[in-house]
Amino acid sequence: MTSTAFTNIQTLVTNDPELGDGLLGVISGAHVVVENGVIVSISTKAPTGVDSEIDCAEKTLLPGFVDSHTHLIFAGDRAEEFAERAKGNRYTAGGIATTVSATRSASDNQLRNNTQKLLNEALSSGTTTVEIKSGYGLTQKDESRSVEIASEFTDETTLLAAHVVPVEFKDNPDSYVKLVIEKMIPESRAKWIDVFCDHGAFDIDQTRRILRAGVEHGMKPRIHANQLQRTEAIQLAIELGATSADHLSASTLQDIEALANSNVVATLLPGAEFSTSHEGKLGRKFLDAGASVAIASDCNPGSSFTTSMPFCIAAAVSLLGFTVEEAVRAATLGGAQALGREDIGRVSVGARADFALLSTPSYIHLAYRPGVNIVSNTYKAGMAVTQWQK
Ligand code: NIG
Ligand code: FE
Repeated sequence: MTSTAFTNIQTLVTNDPELGDGLLGVISGAHVVVENGVIVSISTKAPTGVDSEIDCAEKTLLPGFVDSHTHLIFAGDRAEEFAERAKGNRYTAGGIATTVSATRSASDNQLRNNTQKLLNEALSSGTTTVEIKSGYGLTQKDESRSVEIASEFTDETTLLAAHVVPVEFKDNPDSYVKLVIEKMIPESRAKWIDVFCDHGAFDIDQTRRILRAGVEHGMKPRIHANQLQRTEAIQLAIELGATSADHLSASTLQDIEALANSNVVATLLPGAEFSTSHEGKLGRKFLDAGASVAIASDCNPGSSFTTSMPFCIAAAVSLLGFTVEEAVRAATLGGAQALGREDIGRVSVGARADFALLSTPSYIHLAYRPGVNIVSNTYKAGMAVTQWQK
């Protein structure tokens, strides 16, 4: 058994208000001891008899970011589409088809290398857990290979075969829904099932049928809800006991209340709000209603091409009305809740030693220094890592 101590931590974010101050349970001058990848003690007394020490003076240690919503299996990019939006064009689901054809033409290794590159970026900005969706294959073979490649990088894999109706089914969307239900779901090894329930994608009845089929197959449901237009997607998420409903930009106050009174986590995606269009202070409404809130990167080549959770924290603060503490908590503990995980997203005895170590004395700098990478090291199970591995 080897032990490592993170010592003299100027600011330790535990996410447990019973362990320290405020919403983030902050402790000053703490020492954290890790054994076999798990936290075994948190104290303001210096530890003795440990095998190695990492001095964290003048630094901040916080749980590694839990990015609970990404679309990382794709090829190509859509920079021109982004530039058109800067001239006033609106984001629509239509651009997804461009990425679908690039993804279908890519080799397994191209997809794998692209994902590895993006995950290395995420790791260098403090992310330690990711969920990865399929959704740019849209054939049985291409969806299945997307989930297989995703599973090389994470256990949090999601089948999003119902991202949009592929062109070859344009005149008969229901037969695509049938293919998803009868062929793709039964053969999928993904943990989660997701549907883009929106204008230009799938309607509420198709979404219900697909999510139910996934649940029958043993997958857990999550949903893209109210991104472009309001539907009954939040009500469906509650009806099916989904773990998380994501995007939520076009939600009404009644939707927000309903979500806050349920066990469904509200996952907001500041990168997508930043890169498409955003409703002012969207987050504040969910936070004030008392919802459990997560933020995630939504990394994808269309609506949010960022892997940086610190950027998402900064955007949540400046665009969505979060306090810095709410944003940091939503990017760590909130993400863990959106994946139904209790072993991550917190610094507590028994939790995995997944940490982001900041070069700054406070977590406030995550929002205060936007666009600057202040993460000096990322630790997974107590080990400093620079190349993403599962
Ligand atoms: O979550 N909205 C659906 N899917 C992605 C965007 C996909 C794309 O534009 O390529 C999202 O924002
Ligand atoms: Fe998404």
